[in-house]
Amino acid sequence: MTETVTYELIDGIAVLTIAHPPVNATSQKVREALKDAVLRLNDDADALGGILTGDGSIFVGGADIREFGKTPMPPALPEIINLIEDSAKPIVAAINGVALGGGCELTLGAHARIGTPGARIGLPEVTLGLIPGAGGTQRLPRLIEIGTALDLITSGRQLTAAEALDCGLFDQIAEPADLLASASALARELAAAPQTIRRLSYLPAPQADASVFEKARAACRARYKGQINQLAAVDAVEAATRLDREAGMAEERRLFLSLMSTPQRAALIHAFFAERKAAHVPDIKDIAVEPIEEVGIIGGGTMGAGIATAAAMAGYRVTLVEREEEFAARARATIEKNLARALERKTLKPADHAAILGERLKTCVGYENLSTADVIIEAVFENMDVKQEVFRALDGIAKKGATLATNTSYLDVNAIAAVTSRPEDVIGLHFFSPAHVMRLLEVVVADKTSGTQVARAFALARRMKKTAVRAGVCDGFIGNRILAHYRLAADYMMMDGASPYDIDAALTDFGFAMGPFQVADLAGIDIGYATRQRRAPARHPDERYVGFADALYHKGWLGQKTGRGFYIYDAEAPKGRPDPEVSAMLDGARKAEGIAPRTFTAEEIQDRYMAAMINEGARVLEDGIAQRPSDIDVVFLAGYGFPRWRGGPMQYADEIGLDTVLNRIRTYAAEDAHYWSPARLLEKLVAEGKTFKDLNEASA
Ligand code: 3HC
Ligand code: NAI
Repeated sequence: MTETVTYELIDGIAVLTIAHPPVNATSQKVREALKDAVLRLNDDADALGGILTGDGSIFVGGADIREFGKTPMPPALPEIINLIEDSAKPIVAAINGVALGGGCELTLGAHARIGTPGARIGLPEVTLGLIPGAGGTQRLPRLIEIGTALDLITSGRQLTAAEALDCGLFDQIAEPADLLASASALARELAAAPQTIRRLSYLPAPQADASVFEKARAACRARYKGQINQLAAVDAVEAATRLDREAGMAEERRLFLSLMSTPQRAALIHAFFAERKAAHVPDIKDIAVEPIEEVGIIGGGTMGAGIATAAAMAGYRVTLVEREEEFAARARATIEKNLARALERKTLKPADHAAILGERLKTCVGYENLSTADVIIEAVFENMDVKQEVFRALDGIAKKGATLATNTSYLDVNAIAAVTSRPEDVIGLHFFSPAHVMRLLEVVVADKTSGTQVARAFALARRMKKTAVRAGVCDGFIGNRILAHYRLAADYMMMDGASPYDIDAALTDFGFAMGPFQVADLAGIDIGYATRQRRAPARHPDERYVGFADALYHKGWLGQKTGRGFYIYDAEAPKGRPDPEVSAMLDGARKAEGIAPRTFTAEEIQDRYMAAMINEGARVLEDGIAQRPSDIDVVFLAGYGFPRWRGGPMQYADEIGLDTVLNRIRTYAAEDAHYWSPARLLEKLVAEGKTFKDLNEASA
């Protein structure tokens, strides 16, 4: 037997411990070792029964995702789970931490399940474009109520130990120190009364009529628009109710394997690894970080209050400084509202809520209050003079080595750093709105930012549960720079004949959470206007300017906040309905520019929008603003509502072929050679027959 599963006989019970860091995934070596261990248990005359547990803080993190897409290597996981289930001697799963996917399925093969209070269990395969493929869809509905099973399998939701006990997935909960003793006692009980051993897959098929599954399918179509695997998950559970044991298992396996070769599976697994790889920043990997305890924030508007909420919820002491008492009080009220909502949603414990309001949060006036802060995040108006003034003041007040961060969306972090005597401590921390909800954090590394400060920023992000991506300095960093570019493609299509409503519909059909004109209304037509004004002096003379939204701005149609922008928002249509006046204004604007409107199919709208996004993404890479293509994908998945099941723009580019993207760009260039000039990197990759994936793999 190999060391990936240890076998220890303690008082007549064999303890089988899976020890395969980092997450005890059921890799080929583990499967083989498990097989040996279960066979040994059954041959071991001194063993009455067995316990299956995990080494360290995790039970089993699932099948080894890195093996997916490669030639399967025996023994297969379903075979191992059947072996466990068929074991003549009882086996109890002692769930010492998370049991996910194949890990959960292993416990379902066991004859009883005991978890620690901190254990979590679930079948997250749907989040990877799959369904459970080792009997989970067949065994779970035989153990717990079928509606709950369907919900868990189609949502990928994880249960806490208490919830698992409540629905019957766990038989008992035991404190970590007692886990093995409790499991051992249960194994003995089962050994003494073998007729009470439940082998789940042999239990009678659960009953449910067709309407249960039709309802589940309708819910999945609405909730996971565009995704195919949730529907396959429903099919698999339905199979458990219609087919016998062998046929049900075979049907699950067939569905699982058919999903394995889909672009959605590839995209979702790409997203999983891309998010983890984003945290790999080669120049900081050996830097140790001193603990961060106090976070200072300057400015308590939209962003400052959100960042303060997130920092306080992460357990930091937070001091927020505003210009005047009145604004400080307003910021506190916003934070309190955010915290109350978190309490209601149970994402914040009552004790933590009380501690934040009691002593951990201070809102006040005066920079001197920030002299003890480890990290100071500036979130004042987006104006270079104002920001430089703040950083000059901070330079005189902040303690030595404190991180001096700006939340600027577009401004030059080097120019902000330059007004301090310590540019090595200045960094961009670009949070997204609402900052206590959105996962993305761009860590903007300026020319002189030290590695220590970058490492501190990533540590802060981890604790705040943010997905941090390293970015370089340029106008808009990674996300907003690419956005500013592809957003123009939408404006050009609108001026050339597509209605903003058709463009939004085509892009939400593609899978975006919102279309660009819906986003413009949500963010505020005034915000877009201010950005265009700011950029005007630097605008390239060949750039085609679309000033249509300026007309909305001058009419005071500022979007959702005024009830009118590209859309009308009223009681009849709180989420917005097309505005015939806007359409008429557009007709007028096209006429005034001598444009003969043409039609755009939904497919062409999607192709152009994506080509623009990918082209600018390639330029961002060329300029060294992003470390690797997958980091761009992470930015768009975590911050811009890009459909996760498409993996991000760069993964999508690989999926449709970089030559296809380049050919499209070259075709569009006939209309506007400036806008559609192909990125050199894209041309190079196509010439060399390479992909963005090759660049991801080459990056450390
Ligand atoms: N297979 C291979 N590698 C995995 C993995 C898996 N199932 N789960 C995590 N890893 C890797 C990560 O990529 C990371 O590698 P890195 O250090 O090189 O970046 C490392 O393990 C640590 O992962 P995390 O940083 O995510 O560690 P955490 O402690 O934060 O979280 C976890 C642990 C909760 C287990 C989390 O990793 C996770 O959610 N993993 C995926 C769980 C999952 O989706 N399982 C289902 C797999 S599909 C399946 O089981 C099919 C079956 O039905 C047949
Ligand atoms: P906001 O206008 O809502 O808030 C700014 C706050 O800063 C105001 O409350 C103001 O009183 C305060 N303030 C101004 N000068 C100050 C000073 N000298 N000392 C203390 N407080 C001061 O602005 P918002 O939207 O919160 O933006 C802040 C920063 O975050 C900007 O740089 C913006 O570009 C950036 N940002 C904004 C996003 C958004 O969606 N709103 C998203 C990401 C970044």
